[in-house]
Amino acid sequence: MLKRLTAWLLAMALLLTGVCSFAREEEMGYKSDFSEGLDEWYARSMGNASISVTEDKTLLTVGRTDNWHSPGRDFPLQPGTTYELSVEVRQTQKDEARFMISVAHTAGGTESYENLAFANAQKGEWTTLTGTYMAGPYDRFVLYVETSNAPDIDFEFRNFEMRGQMQESIETADIPALKEIYADLFDFGTAVTFRESTNRQMMNFYASQFNIMTPGNEMKPDSLLDVTTSKIKSIKDDTAVAVKFNSVVPLLEYAKNNGIKVHGHVLVWHNQTPEAFFHEHYNTSLPLVTREVMLARLDNYVREIMTYLDKKYPGVVVSWDVVNEAIDDNTGKLRDSMWLKVVGEDFVARAFEIARKHAPEGVDLYYNDYNTAIIGKQNGIYELVEELMAEGTIDGYGFQMHHDIKFPSVQQIEASVKRFADTGLKLRVSELDITIPENTEVYLKRQAEMYGEIMKILIDYADQMVAVQVWGVTDDLSWRASQYPLLFDGESQPKPAFWAVAEAG
Ligand code: XIL
Repeated sequence: MLKRLTAWLLAMALLLTGVCSFAREEEMGYKSDFSEGLDEWYARSMGNASISVTEDKTLLTVGRTDNWHSPGRDFPLQPGTTYELSVEVRQTQKDEARFMISVAHTAGGTESYENLAFANAQKGEWTTLTGTYMAGPYDRFVLYVETSNAPDIDFEFRNFEMRGQMQESIETADIPALKEIYADLFDFGTAVTFRESTNRQMMNFYASQFNIMTPGNEMKPDSLLDVTTSKIKSIKDDTAVAVKFNSVVPLLEYAKNNGIKVHGHVLVWHNQTPEAFFHEHYNTSLPLVTREVMLARLDNYVREIMTYLDKKYPGVVVSWDVVNEAIDDNTGKLRDSMWLKVVGEDFVARAFEIARKHAPEGVDLYYNDYNTAIIGKQNGIYELVEELMAEGTIDGYGFQMHHDIKFPSVQQIEASVKRFADTGLKLRVSELDITIPENTEVYLKRQAEMYGEIMKILIDYADQMVAVQVWGVTDDLSWRASQYPLLFDGESQPKPAFWAVAEAG
């Protein structure tokens, strides 16, 4: 109570001082109480088993014939919130029986399950199970108590407890929305990671500012390639590829339900790509596959991804980084990579050809790289992009723009944007952030100025600029968190950089 009051007072104080967003924490809790009956517990997946309340006010389950025959109860859990769970169980029929708290959750009509807490209960002894659960992106949650090795025992439980700390709830009503300020010029977006995508409050806050999102890691080969299943499939056909989407589904679901566009990142990259992808039978102790097998694998990989997305999330993924960072910083030539080694010098061209073959109509294909403002590297990127243009497989160029207040200069950035604009390609800024050495007023001001100046350049090229995306929303969750590179601080408050971007538009 005291905590709530403090949070409320703090919120009011912030409102009164004119700060337009605030974070608060709120506790949610439940403890079973069978003094008045079943307390909304019911027999779930029970066969002929049944539940009742005993004289001692415990919940008794009898007549089970399977481990999952269990008492369950609906809980309105908040996706993204972590819950602490505990329950005391007792059985009197086996020397020892293993119990679990599990959750049956439903998304899009499909039920799936997770086991959350475990304990072995000796005959006749009250035994406590404890565990935690971070609620995933589901519509319905049923928590239940089941066994894993004792399908036919009766058991009782008491003191089922569930406690959760709501994650930040963010109110941003008074902040202008970048997506609206820039609506006539280009999309305004951000990167979002799995952790953020499962937090409804955070996603709502992001969606209030941004209309396009890139999964920060969840569409990279180390997320999408299912090495275990690919290995099994490869016994029959070594070009076969299995993919999985579990870590990107929360973002795709949110995007689909809220009209957010998604930019896919990335099909071919030297980083975050399992070494096994390049080896016979996906086994790193076997030799590398041939160029032909690798190209066939890439073809299957891209086809599987595009087909799944088009079927389940039609129209959501509007563009892709087909190849990322292929050019070496020092030589301006192709960097050393497994792709270069296994496929050869034309791997970028082949990747674009394959992506073009499988991408649904209207999905734009980009080459994406960093340090475009540095002339040596810029020349290398430019040559590569020209080759792809000659093949007619590329739609655009993506500037990462991971910058620092000291480097590169705004003039260098402007010259690089101009040079790529002159190709006539579509352009996007895919990963904008600007690091500062310390979180001080002076640096925050300089950071804001640089953001503002960059935005002015991008506005000048709005005809070709399809989207501008920052690489994360709040400093604390940035990949460069120690250098405070983003538009919002760790408290989700707009920084001077935010206002500079808003004012430039
Ligand atoms: C970064 C992610 O933000 C990190 O979480 C991860 O650990 C490493 O990759 N260029 C890119 C992005 O194209 O994929 C990188 O993202 C940042 C640099």
